[in-house]
Amino acid sequence: MFYGERIRLRRDERADLSRFVEWLNDPDVRRFISVNLPISQANEEGWFEGMLKRQPEEQPFAIEIRDGDAWRLVGNCGFFEIDRFARSAEVGILIGDKSCWNKGYGTEVMRLLLRIGFQSLNLNRVYLRVDKGNKGGIRAYEKAGFLHEGSFRQGTFRDGHYEDLLLMSVLRFEWHLDEEDNGANA
Ligand SMILES: CC(C)(COP(=O)(O)OP(=O)(O)OC[C@H]1O[C@@H](n2cnc3c(N)ncnc32)[C@H](O)[C@@H]1OP(=O)(O)O)[C@@H](O)C(=O)NCCC(=O)NCCS
Repeated sequence: MFYGERIRLRRDERADLSRFVEWLNDPDVRRFISVNLPISQANEEGWFEGMLKRQPEEQPFAIEIRDGDAWRLVGNCGFFEIDRFARSAEVGILIGDKSCWNKGYGTEVMRLLLRIGFQSLNLNRVYLRVDKGNKGGIRAYEKAGFLHEGSFRQGTFRDGHYEDLLLMSVLRFEWHLDEEDNGANA
């Protein structure tokens, strides 16, 4: 279990899958992710079984937030495309519970993923790809310390048109400086 200030990240469980199906079929939630067709419970169960066979570092985390004395599932996140030689990995996030958007949770999750990436997985570079139209996501990643690196022109297709995919990243030395600035290492 990894803890942030208001969040924690735990392993995905089979019992989470019905919530994932609900979120992945919500047009607002899937607008900026590469899910263009309906998702069934059986699809998601198949995904879960495949996921369990991946290396542990690439198995995703369920995002939970404090809800009184309990914890509430609100999303999913994780590392993938881990390159052992370059010490590089991509991160992804989905907060499916829309009542949680624009409250700083996305920023907090990305900060925690950076801490895990650099301090637990010994990465040197953490990057992500984000649809140019995903203004909330881009803002959250900037707040977490990600820098703009470039774009994949017309890198994605949604709503009947191509859209650029922005590439953003944090290198270990930049994260360390950022943490020191925030007094987080004190
Ligand atoms: C993208 C996502 C992770 C962002 O999480 P979040 O918890 O809403 O993010 P935060 O609250 O930490 O930050 C969002 C910021 O964007 C701002 N924002 C939101 N919509 C905006 C818009 N249209 N234009 C400009 N800024 C916007 C918010 O005001 C906030 O900034 P502030 O704190 O300075 O006010 C979440 O919305 C999500 O999971 N969406 C569905 C799936 C998805 O798109 N995943 C990402 C794929 S790359």
